[in-house]
Amino acid sequence: MNRRGDSGEMAGKSYPEVSEEYKAAVAKAKRKLRGLIAEKNCAPLMLRIAWHSAGTYDVSTKTGGPFGTMKYPEELAHAANSGLDIAVRLLEPIKEQFPILSYADFYQLAGVVAVEITGGPEIPFHPGREDKPQPPEEGRLPDATKGSDHLRQVFGVQMGLSDQDIVALSGGHTLGRCHKERSGFEGAWTANPLIFDNSYFKELLSGEKEGLLQLPSDKTLLDDPVFRPLVEKYAADEDAFFADYAESHLKLSELGFGITA
Ligand code: HEM
Repeated sequence: MNRRGDSGEMAGKSYPEVSEEYKAAVAKAKRKLRGLIAEKNCAPLMLRIAWHSAGTYDVSTKTGGPFGTMKYPEELAHAANSGLDIAVRLLEPIKEQFPILSYADFYQLAGVVAVEITGGPEIPFHPGREDKPQPPEEGRLPDATKGSDHLRQVFGVQMGLSDQDIVALSGGHTLGRCHKERSGFEGAWTANPLIFDNSYFKELLSGEKEGLLQLPSDKTLLDDPVFRPLVEKYAADEDAFFADYAESHLKLSELGFGITA
């Protein structure tokens, strides 16, 4: 594949060239994903599968990442991925209609559509990820019972992302909820878990509330001198959150993908 194709360049990255047929399949799969998410109200699960696929990336060994391995029973069996077998199962009938697409691209496309269709920012999508044959080892995703040092270890040292990425991406918890039988935690972060907005940050600042939940890994954002000002900024300014979230989600979805110029 030509590594400097007409798929364009973003933020100094170049992407593999894909065929017109591939691009058409991406556009059509996007429409099918909108339909699925509207029918099943499954945007939160779709965002979670995209994030858990990408979040295993290890920058030092260049292993893991958004390369379609979540379809393997071995990766679905990782404790952190409890419940994502449902996402794989929901997505499979659409994936079967587009054999040309990689699972890698398809799962990341599902995450992008989930954010867009619930009222969140548009996130650029560059196709061309290739599927990897081998799932990553278990234990690379963050532990919800831990604090800032752990988040910096996982997002910063392992994935190569920034402090700002940690806070912006934590705003993904504006969607969805915890399920006792999956993670041991129960409840949603916001009153509207099917709407992508900045209410996660508003709730975080306003403290614990009957019926809503905050994980230790969410609350730690309030105690850290770098994280807290960003929480305050995003709570006060949804446009600023959307702009930073779109940038951070793009980075997450392209860990280990594309050539940095
Ligand atoms: C900062 C570290 C993070 C930790 C420790 C964490 C932990 C968790 C936990 C424990 C759950 C509950 C799973 C369940 O019981 O169903 C969850 C759900 C979720 N997470 Fe995270 N998460 C983190 C970051 C993120 C990021 C970066 C995103 C996306 C950008 C994200 C998106 C979601 C979504 C959408 C759900 C809801 C899933 C559903 O409703 O089925 N999380 N997370």
